[in-house]
Amino acid sequence: MRFGHIHGSADTVRVLHLTDPHLFAAKAGDLRGTVTYDALRQVLAHYEANDWRADLVALTGDLIQDDSAGAYEHCRELLSSLGLPIHCVPGNHDVRSLMRDALPEPPFIYCGSAEVSNWLIVNIDSCSADRAGGSVTEDELARMESIIASSNAEHVLVCLHHPPVPMGSAWLDTVGLDNGNELLKRMQTARRVRLAIFGHVHQAYDVAHDGIRIIATPSTCRQFLPRSDDFALDDRPPAYRRIMLQTSGEADTELIWVNDA
Ligand SMILES: [Fe+2]
Repeated sequence: MRFGHIHGSADTVRVLHLTDPHLFAAKAGDLRGTVTYDALRQVLAHYEANDWRADLVALTGDLIQDDSAGAYEHCRELLSSLGLPIHCVPGNHDVRSLMRDALPEPPFIYCGSAEVSNWLIVNIDSCSADRAGGSVTEDELARMESIIASSNAEHVLVCLHHPPVPMGSAWLDTVGLDNGNELLKRMQTARRVRLAIFGHVHQAYDVAHDGIRIIATPSTCRQFLPRSDDFALDDRPPAYRRIMLQTSGEADTELIWVNDA
């Protein structure tokens, strides 16, 4: 499915990666001292105020914090104004039924896929009920493989909430992805996967793993301290990432810290 402007010929695809906004029904709701509604608004204002323009948004989970439909309404209202297709997946703090009800139609696409230029973007669900860690079910792995198999796109971007690899942070790695190795193996087997992006870890990460680049973007609100064995906050500001998917299969990215938030 294609949304927004259609690329007639192969072209760079620009992805605005936003993750873990943790909104509340109350606009004044705060996550460990950061008012998450204001932080997301400031991130979006930074995007709007600059020249760089995205073709689509990847929103990789933890949209809300308080299990409320109202928080999803805020999410819808803030992000709709971008005028872009918004691919979203649930995070462990999301409530799938509320999320699907609140974001049922374009510009929001829940766990969908899209071909843009010579890239295929596949969004997968990595959440398990009632726990912070995740796993990708066999059904979901098979769905990913079948979407890739039925596309002629040369390159694939996979979006999910949980990290496919350990982060080197003891506490975070107890709430990571149980079957990250299996996911990586299946992405390898699918051959054309060049990049996987995720949230959950509220910090920046960027490694290559057997030819697949794996990138985390910090939250649009509060950050965690990288490589910390115990839970610890990082005082870095809200952030987002610009991702340029090149026709060659490479990706260039730019991490933006929004310091005025
Ligand atoms: Fe989160």
